[in-house]
Amino acid sequence: MNIEIKNLKKKFNDHYVLKDISLTIENNKSTIILGQSGCGKSVLIKTIYQLFNFDSGEIIYNKKPNVNIDNFSMLFQYGALFDSLKISENIAFTDFINNKKNFRKRVMSLMNDVGLDKSIFNRYPSELSGGMKKRAALARALYKNPKVIFLDEPTTGLDPINSDKINDLILKVITKRKITAVSITHDIKSAIKTGDNYFFIDDGIVEDKGECRNILKTKNKKFKSFITGARY
Ligand SMILES: Nc1ncnc2c1ncn2[C@@H]1O[C@H](COP(=O)(O)OP(=O)(O)OP(=O)(O)O)[C@@H](O)[C@H]1O
Ligand SMILES: [Mg+2]
Repeated sequence: MNIEIKNLKKKFNDHYVLKDISLTIENNKSTIILGQSGCGKSVLIKTIYQLFNFDSGEIIYNKKPNVNIDNFSMLFQYGALFDSLKISENIAFTDFINNKKNFRKRVMSLMNDVGLDKSIFNRYPSELSGGMKKRAALARALYKNPKVIFLDEPTTGLDPINSDKINDLILKVITKRKITAVSITHDIKSAIKTGDNYFFIDDGIVEDKGECRNILKTKNKKFKSFITGARY
């Protein structure tokens, strides 16, 4: 799905978080959103997902102003598995809450795709490592066959080796399933590895954009400082 955002503005209590955002999310590409903590990255993707309304501007989905959000899935910033539900029930959550019981085969197949052993089908989240929880959250996001997946810091809290594994996995599943991906990350290495295009948000606007493979060649001073971790 192609998503075009034009002059998007969004405020909370008279404070504009998104001041003027224009960007395009290209069909079947991996788009990366970068920016300092608190700059509005999560708000931006939740607005695109239609979890928030906005104050002005346009979001156009495949040339239309409306979209069925069944096309979308989100891996939330803090994973958010339900502690009281088994892994299988978490993955099949939409069917589970609607009392549809017939999800075993689909869950097994997804668990296999994300590298989870079938022995954890009936386990609870507290029995899993951080990396396994991320895999389960990814399986849940894939359960409804989304056209677009939003990934809000999918590797937060993982060590570099497990972050690499999760990045590889994400890249594999979105390529294989031809899913349009929109990811937020703080990690430049992940962005270069998993992204096609990037947008760097600062002070409510798109301060820099380009192809992820050229991130380290940016001429934008603010983005350069962000990359090197310096203050500006
Ligand atoms: N539901 C809300 N009500 C009021 N203010 C909100 C709400 N959600 C977010 N904000 C504000 O919007 C701003 C941007 O928040 P957001 O969560 O998008 O930041 P972020 O860029 O994702 O940061 P981080 O990298 O730390 O996750 C913050 O100042 C936050 O307090
Ligand atoms: Mg966030």
